[in-house]
Amino acid sequence: MPTDLTVVVLAAGGGTRMRSKTPKVLHELGGKSMVGHVLAAVRVLEPRRVVAVVGHQRELVGPHVEEQLPGVVLAVQEEQLGTGHAVAQAMAAAGSASGTVVVACGDTPLLTGESLSEFAAEHEAAQRAVSVLSGVVDDPTGYGRIVRDADGDVVAIVEHKDADADQRDIREINSGIYAFDAAFLADALPRVGNDNAKGEYYLTDVVQLARDAGLTVGAHVLDDVRQTEGANDRAQLAQLGAELNHRILDRWMREGVTVMDPATTWVDADVVLAPDVTLLPGTQLLGATVVAEDAVIGPDTTLKDCEIGPGARVVRTHGELAVIGGGATVGPFSYLRPGTNLGADGKIGAFVETKNARIGDGAKVPHLSYVGDAEIGEGSNIGAGTIFANYDGVNKHRTTVGRHARTGSNNTFVAPVSIGDGASTGGGTVVRRDVPPGALAISGGPQRTIPGWAQTRRSGTAQAAAAEAAGSPRTGEGDASHNGDPGVGASGSAGAES
Ligand code: UD1
Ligand code: CA
Repeated sequence: MPTDLTVVVLAAGGGTRMRSKTPKVLHELGGKSMVGHVLAAVRVLEPRRVVAVVGHQRELVGPHVEEQLPGVVLAVQEEQLGTGHAVAQAMAAAGSASGTVVVACGDTPLLTGESLSEFAAEHEAAQRAVSVLSGVVDDPTGYGRIVRDADGDVVAIVEHKDADADQRDIREINSGIYAFDAAFLADALPRVGNDNAKGEYYLTDVVQLARDAGLTVGAHVLDDVRQTEGANDRAQLAQLGAELNHRILDRWMREGVTVMDPATTWVDADVVLAPDVTLLPGTQLLGATVVAEDAVIGPDTTLKDCEIGPGARVVRTHGELAVIGGGATVGPFSYLRPGTNLGADGKIGAFVETKNARIGDGAKVPHLSYVGDAEIGEGSNIGAGTIFANYDGVNKHRTTVGRHARTGSNNTFVAPVSIGDGASTGGGTVVRRDVPPGALAISGGPQRTIPGWAQTRRSGTAQAAAAEAAGSPRTGEGDASHNGDPGVGASGSAGAES
């Protein structure tokens, strides 16, 4: 690895073919911007300094690049006068011209740090003035061509627009990635002109200048040519995104992850998976998601920035910024919102939405519930259809449920409220006041039962006939005149049971 290394990343271009208000290099694939991928590869080189050339929409590109690679030097290229001009701005910003300068483009997201390191190392070992990373492609249209002499030495790079018919037949192309002797580059750049088809200052012209000065130039052919591909439009972005995903999945499968259906599984570049994780069809693992060994994710699950413990099972779930403990089960059809933290062997079941909820070890929210701004202690069970009513229309409040509590079905917990350790609540309870440890809370009036109501109020219907057949007594005749609500009309003749 070069010791005195400066890396220049070109990211000033417009990218009009994206037809986007977002600058080209900020378009994402694999959970990261194109330039973010390039900077991740650059980081592997451990360069002394990195200079990013920004211009077009630099108010967006500049801060993004600084966030991706703290310490990066930004060089501003006000007008995009060509790649040679861009690198000249970078050299001025770098402030010194010693050692090696590697130039990369901000739109080649598949480029790996390994390829870049090998290239830089080879450049130094060969003591060249200029090294070009090249590739052999089927359709070289649009690319600069690597022109070699009879001995195979590189003599020039000729842009597509400036190439003659013979040169256009050359299938070895310039990837746009170079390594230079810094002193030579600093000396050569001011001598690059713009007398060409595009009227731009071509960085590629320094090849000829090196040759004219009797210096060594070489091209390093990268077999894996896709690493040098850029995305100029959204169709290419999708193709590169699919290829990147394919490569990421391949890597994880070699590391011991089972991917049942790679075609429908998407894993972002920064996701970390342990051996013996299983990903079922339709799974998307995004952002900084981490999955521990033996966990099974999917089918049809999207997790962004989630942490899944060993042996956990997450089925048909959408989750973001959630932590799921080892052995826990989630889904099907669960919605984990930020701040969800499920303990080991816990359960978040079908049609349950959670947010800012710490659910203890072995605790369960099995069915049809909303758990927001809540703390549930270990071993507690929340009844089906429970709503943690956290919002009073103005403020959000917290609900606390203790350890080993048992709450009934269809409860509403009106926050702020707490339910103590070992407490219970009856079905349908609306908990408005704290329930002490060990207590049973029941709300709502006593149930009233009106015998023979069906025959009286629904006479002539199948319901009445069924009641009759089941031996329901014919009572409450006097109430037949009441057409109102049974709760009101049934008073008197019908007894209420408590
Ligand atoms: C360039 C090469 C070409 C090579 C191709 C690979 C030159 C003259 N040609 O052509 O040989 O095959 O890349 O993709 O270099 N940029 C700036 N400022 C500028 C101009 C460009 O920062 O003034 C940046 C762009 O944002 C981009 C990179 O430099 O990241 C390449 O520029 P682009 O205009 O795409 O060059 P090509 O014409 O594709
Ligand atoms: Ca290009």
